[in-house]
Amino acid sequence: MKVVITGGAGYIGSTVASACLDRGWTPVILDDFSTGRREFVRGRLVYEGDVGDRALVERVFTEHPDIEGVVHCAARTVVHESVSDPLAYYRANVTRSIELVDALVGVGCPRIVFSSSAAVYAASPSLVVDERAPLDPRSPYAVSKAMVERVLQDVVAAHPVRALALRYFNPVGADPQMRTGLQVAHPSHVLGSLLAAHEAGRPFTVHGSDWPTRDGSPVRDYVHVWDLAQAHVLALAAFDDVCHDASPFTAVNIGSGTGTTVLELADAFADVVGQPVEVVRGPRREGDVVGGAASSDRARELLGWKPELSLRDAIGDALRWREVRGERLGV
Ligand SMILES: NC(=O)c1ccc[n+]([C@@H]2O[C@H](COP(=O)([O-])OP(=O)(O)OC[C@H]3O[C@@H](n4cnc5c(N)ncnc54)[C@H](O)[C@@H]3O)[C@@H](O)[C@H]2O)c1
Repeated sequence: MKVVITGGAGYIGSTVASACLDRGWTPVILDDFSTGRREFVRGRLVYEGDVGDRALVERVFTEHPDIEGVVHCAARTVVHESVSDPLAYYRANVTRSIELVDALVGVGCPRIVFSSSAAVYAASPSLVVDERAPLDPRSPYAVSKAMVERVLQDVVAAHPVRALALRYFNPVGADPQMRTGLQVAHPSHVLGSLLAAHEAGRPFTVHGSDWPTRDGSPVRDYVHVWDLAQAHVLALAAFDDVCHDASPFTAVNIGSGTGTTVLELADAFADVVGQPVEVVRGPRREGDVVGGAASSDRARELLGWKPELSLRDAIGDALRWREVRGERLGV
């Protein structure tokens, strides 16, 4: 199968491209390299440019008439940036996606897999959300994801195209073969903070000790980025069974199904590095949420997907990537 991967030079898109290659498929990468890395696409078919550039999208399809679908990963992804510059986020994530989808309808591309996010959901008292749970995106970034899902729902009702939105929970780790990983040295997620505290030899701060969870710290559902990439391969393979005329749009959660509190993450990290982690409890920060976990039943039923790798595998791969990252990226 030949498949376009927008944002295929980024953290997730490049891992999806590797998973496609391992499956014997051909990824065609469309990326503007705004945050993506050229090192991640070496030896791969690449078109450099914006997903909103209709002429470029048409050229990709003219030069590869055997493309069977698109995985649309390209986006701006920094939540706090979206709060301070919402117009840039709506333009990058919504306007450009509309232009892309319009071009895909024009060239007759029948299958779109969209990178959505668990951030579209409202907080759930049970801390577990399935795909029917109410949506309540809180940041412009999260709203941009919900808006594109909505656009896709309306487009599939009007045009011969179908769409599958994968709602990712918290991707962590790196390609186990160390081909790619996070571009940045200091990721802003909780595992990144743990890594930074470990390297600096300083205590790790847990923000909030009064959340309604088993130990008072927030909960996240971590999914190994390699398992996440496999979900895309399975989604493409099962696409026509999942998205068809009677059901042209489907959203599917991609999470481990297990909520891990920040304190549990710190314990798992200590196990993997073989050293205790000193934890200090700080106050909640503005904008923090209690979090939650995915119900991943639909992914299992529709895609035949379940996570194969553990949180400890993800922590180990993140640590290994940290060692090779400088050399791989020449920094
Ligand atoms: N990383 C996460 O925690 C997470 C969680 C949920 C959903 N997602 C979604 O997954 C997707 C990939 O995220 P990521 O973490 O790999 O981010 P990333 O920044 O590593 O990758 C995004 C890629 O898209 C490219 N890009 C951005 N705008 C573009 C444009 N207009 N035209 C062409 N290329 C463009 C960038 O150069 C980069 O290669 C995003 O849609 C994001 O919203 C990520």
